[in-house]
Amino acid sequence: MQVTRTCKAATAMYVCICNALRERDVRRVAPDCGNAAQVYRALNCATRCGRCVPTVRAILVEQPAPHANLDATATQPAAFAIAAE
Ligand code: FES
Repeated sequence: MQVTRTCKAATAMYVCICNALRERDVRRVAPDCGNAAQVYRALNCATRCGRCVPTVRAILVEQPAPHANLDATATQPAAFAIAAE
């Protein structure tokens, strides 16, 4: 009999031990943050030892660029499209 176990470590991985911040907490606020300090502020805490800062920065780098969800097939910005009508 084979026993299959689901690993929950990836979703519960702690990024910041000092503030008990999990990776998913950081990923939740990261799209609205431009730097690590904003991430901590958004999560109502601040850096203490600072060992987690490189990881928080790495998560920020993984975020899509602002406006990346815009229609990539559009040939003109929406403002120009309205003005041309
Ligand atoms: S591990 Fe995040 S401030 Fe110490």
